[in-house]
Amino acid sequence: MATITFILKDGTERAVEAEPGMTVMEAAVKNSIPGIAAECGGACACATCHVYVDDTWREATGEPVQMEEDMLDFAFDVQPSSRLSCQIKVTEALDGLVVRIPEKQF
Ligand code: FES
Repeated sequence: MATITFILKDGTERAVEAEPGMTVMEAAVKNSIPGIAAECGGACACATCHVYVDDTWREATGEPVQMEEDMLDFAFDVQPSSRLSCQIKVTEALDGLVVRIPEKQF
């Protein structure tokens, strides 16, 4: 299991348990994290699962592939740490991951 902490828009933190193999988006939806609509169900086709990866975790989560980059163009306030959470696979190595929910999602 990996613990993932979501920092919500109001600054509160919600730590959830995620199983390796699921995505960060799936962990958010399963735990009713507000601000992650995931309208396309993880197909990298909506950008409503946009998160900011904490700087200390950016190397571990890696860089977005081209398809994800293209979809991020539709997200609001994209920053260097922006990722689509449906494209981040949970592994044991991501135990402790911290991501922030954007102010505006869609
Ligand atoms: Fe639609 Fe991630 S859930 S792009």
